[in-house]
Amino acid sequence: MCGIFGCVLKEGLAAPLIHSSLKRLEYRGYDSVGVATIRDGKIYLKKDKGKIDEVHRLMNLDDLPGNVGIGHTRWATHGAPLKVNAHPHSDCSGEIVVVHNGIIENFSELKLEMENIGHNFVSKTDTEVIAHLIEERVSKNPELDLVNNVSEAVKRLDGSYAIAVISSKMASKVICARKESPLVLGVSENGVYFASDIPAFLPITNKAVFVEDGEVVELSATGYVIRKIEDLSLVTREPKTVDWSPEMAVKQGYPHFMLKEIHEQPLTLRNTLRLQEHYLDLISTFLDRAQEVFLVACGTSYHACLAASYMFSKLAFLPTYPVYSSEFLEQHGKSVNIDSTILAVSQSGETADTLAAVTCAQQRAATVLGLTNVIGSTLTRVSRVYIGQQSGPEIGVAATKTFTSQLSVLAQLALRLSKKRGKISQDEMDFIAERLERLPDIVESIIQTQEAKIKRIAKKYEGSQIFFFLGRGISTATAYEGRLKLMEIAYVPSIAFPAGESKHGPISLIEKGLPVVFICARDGTRKTLVSNILEMKARGASIISILEEGDEEIKALSDDYVEVPKGIPEVLSPIPFAIPLQLLAYYVTLEKGQNPDTPRNLAKSVTVK
Ligand code: F6R
Repeated sequence: MCGIFGCVLKEGLAAPLIHSSLKRLEYRGYDSVGVATIRDGKIYLKKDKGKIDEVHRLMNLDDLPGNVGIGHTRWATHGAPLKVNAHPHSDCSGEIVVVHNGIIENFSELKLEMENIGHNFVSKTDTEVIAHLIEERVSKNPELDLVNNVSEAVKRLDGSYAIAVISSKMASKVICARKESPLVLGVSENGVYFASDIPAFLPITNKAVFVEDGEVVELSATGYVIRKIEDLSLVTREPKTVDWSPEMAVKQGYPHFMLKEIHEQPLTLRNTLRLQEHYLDLISTFLDRAQEVFLVACGTSYHACLAASYMFSKLAFLPTYPVYSSEFLEQHGKSVNIDSTILAVSQSGETADTLAAVTCAQQRAATVLGLTNVIGSTLTRVSRVYIGQQSGPEIGVAATKTFTSQLSVLAQLALRLSKKRGKISQDEMDFIAERLERLPDIVESIIQTQEAKIKRIAKKYEGSQIFFFLGRGISTATAYEGRLKLMEIAYVPSIAFPAGESKHGPISLIEKGLPVVFICARDGTRKTLVSNILEMKARGASIISILEEGDEEIKALSDDYVEVPKGIPEVLSPIPFAIPLQLLAYYVTLEKGQNPDTPRNLAKSVTVK
């Protein structure tokens, strides 16, 4: 996730406006920033790594001439956060300049193709290829206008994009195009603006035009013209008035970042499915060769590791050991060795316990692999190979979208490994891969159809002193995550166990009306899970089940239930089954009159102004 903004003004300088508007998009990415403007047929460009204020202090982002310009604040997906990888990116001549938010899946092939015909690349980004594709189109078709050439160029892109292009040959215009990444226009008396998100221009105008997938837009001082990329046919769309306050706008109208991030999961899961094959292959090759594999993490990331240990075992027959980072030194510090591989999972890539475990493993010559959301974090620097989970910045303190993205990456790794090892049938692999692709839609439908019901369940049980979360098999990890979410934001003491363990002690806590949340994914543990539900029911517990649509047997045993769509393979089940648990924690917290974004004693390193 990155933020883009730009404008064509009738009067005044574009650069200071771009700078202040990018500040309001900084929650979308903050590892590098850049601005490009045009005056008298010449492009002026400043960019560097670092937060906007840091870069501005060094090079004064306001000090660029011209009333037309584009800007970008970056969350690295391809290429480390370095000056060379900061946007805007240019073609060979520096006459065409592009900013981009999204992921170009086929950039390696396109880059090779462009290099073979003489284009010179300087960055490691996927974006740079867009500038060269446009340059190529323009050089072959100089008689066509930029809208036409940009449209033809973007037809070659697989993946997602919201782009803005300026050219020194067309000094008074900006061309934007969109596919699966947000793009919205703002319209005022003094000009037109484009942005990833409304807060960028809200202090200037509340008249917004939403650009849709497959559209290209020409911005000029007289207004905007929207066309279909496919055939350049005209689209008529009038501006709408947005009545959000700036505070609401930054949360896209959601009352809290946590809810916004829960709702973002269909999008983040789509992005996570766009990982570079090359890295998945490399990491799975390391895992394949290892004598022993430790999955090391804290908190929610640990729960992703726990789920992954079932995925690796069931799909690739690879035994792995999930370990809390804080325990790694004591538990394995002496035995880890050159034949060991550590896959460290950390959203931030900066968690001290995880980095300590990594250092210990490195000192003993083990191989360290990383999975993180923050490219450029310490974990990416110390890992032999790392993979970025593509969730975009997480502002809510409680991890939600980053958990499901981690699970998606780990499932993709397990599938790769499975293919290498040939342990399960092709049919089974194809089925799981196909369901993985459908998960973004499945998650979307769970949110759409179940949220109101979960709100009611939260209201009903909000006064409970204690909650139980139980699951069997891979659903144990889901149960642990449900408990963590509820405890950390609603402050409700909660207990999670593999359901089979509950009778070895925890069951003594059960009394009439105590809510027990069962994670009922369809898998080989079903019969025993039903017995566990009956055990709890017999002692008066209130059963809340997260179950598959049409699971009449468990519905009949439940006081309340939430449904997820049918046909989810067990190894993928933590992704959809986690969604109702996130929403439950969120709504119980609201019922208690607390703010889910600011749980006491916990903090994120990023703050949004
Ligand atoms: C829970 C949560 C924490 C983190 C944990 C690890 O909602 O946010 O439990 O999961 O602190 O953080 P990372 O993944 O950044 O290492």
